[in-house]
Amino acid sequence: MPEIAISLVGIEKSFGSAKILNGITLDFRRGSVHALIGENGAGKSSLGKIIGGYYSFDAGTLTVFGKPVGHWTPRAALQGGIAMIHQELQLVPELTVAQNVFLGIEDNSAGVLRGSEAARFRALDEKCGFGLKPGTIVADLRIAERQKVEIMRAIARDSRVIIMDEPTSSLTADEAEKLHHVIRWLRDDGRTVIYVTHFLDHVLATADRVTIMRDGRIVRSGDIAGETKASLVEAMLGEPADVAFPPLPAPPALSVAPILEISHLSSDTGLQDVSLDIRPGEIVGLIGLVGSGRSELARAIFGADPATGAVKVAGAPYDDRSPRRSVARGIGFVPEDRRKQGLDLVQMVRPNMSLPHLALVSRFGVLRPKEERRRTAEMIRHFNIVPGQIDGEVAFYSGGNQQKVLLSKWVYGNPKIVILDEPSRGVDIGARRRIHDFVVELARGGAAVLLISSELEEVISLSHRGYLMSEGRIVGTADCRTLTVEDALFRLFNIDRSAGDTARAGATS
Ligand SMILES: Nc1ncnc2c1ncn2[C@@H]1O[C@H](COP(=O)(O)OP(=O)(O)OP(=O)(O)O)[C@@H](O)[C@H]1O
Ligand SMILES: [Mg+2]
Repeated sequence: MPEIAISLVGIEKSFGSAKILNGITLDFRRGSVHALIGENGAGKSSLGKIIGGYYSFDAGTLTVFGKPVGHWTPRAALQGGIAMIHQELQLVPELTVAQNVFLGIEDNSAGVLRGSEAARFRALDEKCGFGLKPGTIVADLRIAERQKVEIMRAIARDSRVIIMDEPTSSLTADEAEKLHHVIRWLRDDGRTVIYVTHFLDHVLATADRVTIMRDGRIVRSGDIAGETKASLVEAMLGEPADVAFPPLPAPPALSVAPILEISHLSSDTGLQDVSLDIRPGEIVGLIGLVGSGRSELARAIFGADPATGAVKVAGAPYDDRSPRRSVARGIGFVPEDRRKQGLDLVQMVRPNMSLPHLALVSRFGVLRPKEERRRTAEMIRHFNIVPGQIDGEVAFYSGGNQQKVLLSKWVYGNPKIVILDEPSRGVDIGARRRIHDFVVELARGGAAVLLISSELEEVISLSHRGYLMSEGRIVGTADCRTLTVEDALFRLFNIDRSAGDTARAGATS
């Protein structure tokens, strides 16, 4: 077995006139975890797709376990021992978890799990520690669960090289730690893991080697030893960057009336008697683990799912909730799953952003294209969306840039109430800071913000006040200016540290 699993020499790739990979020369060793990092659009996913056989390349050589490849397809790559976990998940929603995991490598063709396959699933599940049920239909799973299915799928193929494109982007810290365990185990077993991520802490914790990309080129590649978060950020951005959270504006006075009041909201999606309120200029965080009901609450408020209970906007009852009416009432919503709920991938950037807000860019029902273009350009500038064309095709944008388009779409209309579900998922460290600044700007401008993030540090640092959620209920409130991540975890896991713990009732792990 050669020491080098994958070797790239002088790889070039263009789409039309845009050169997206430029002279990439790089080795991936056997038995190593090799992190691939860089800004949104740097070319990480494209490089992964070339190795995985999804993209062809224009020049250069790709050598897999000592053999230069010719006609390279996903099937050939899989047969050659290479599996890829995509950034945008590619499961078959109508099939079960186990069917997806074993798709193409099943023992039978009837679609029924045979004894041996059930045992195979159990063994795999034990290894990964994800606790998924084999018979669940994938369409019924949340995005974090789907990500786990993708990971199991790659591992089930017994691949010698596994490319993971942002596998932890919707996992909790705890789940990410489990995945890192699996990654280390794969490495110790002599396999190669190519790990694409924006979480630099994860890179520092798991990788042996790191390659930093910028604008389709390699900035630097080598051992992880000696790298720090600051050195990685600087190499990614080409300059030192501020990675702290921005300071919050003062919270509104207690006498200010709430603009959003929720009372006794319950839903089929699992919400139980949820009450909360937000005042203009206030950022309120929902603090909870994946599955605690945070996204369900966001969707119920926006009218994306039905719910019983009362919602008031600016003091007036809002009972006939629907996404369209919510937009008309000045509520903006960035959903967690951009591919399914957020963007119309057959459209260009401009209509994607303006479609829910046509009234804003029309006069007497007639579209004002100039105004529409002006506002779209403003958003592109604000979030540094690349490529920056107003009529760029969203389907071909990098994952992080799609996320920026989605965010723009919902803040385009200057909403008074903004619900953000994982707004910085998948964006690079520079864009993340711009999004944080933007959240603070929204509040400063008088908007009420409801923030959801699986990253506890992010939601706590960016919120004035927080509601702790567990199993569809509010189990406590907190002043985020004094709350620590550790406190929040103790309270969410219902660990009794002191007599003053107020979050006990109803909280479970
Ligand atoms: N199929 C395609 N057609 C046209 N352009 C593409 C295609 N795939 C990727 N690109 C372009 O190639 C560039 C690199 O994209 P890529 O997805 O590799 O970036 P990335 O580093 O993975 O970014 P992110 O962190 O946002 O996921 C981007 O400018 C993107 O728009
Ligand atoms: Mg990508």
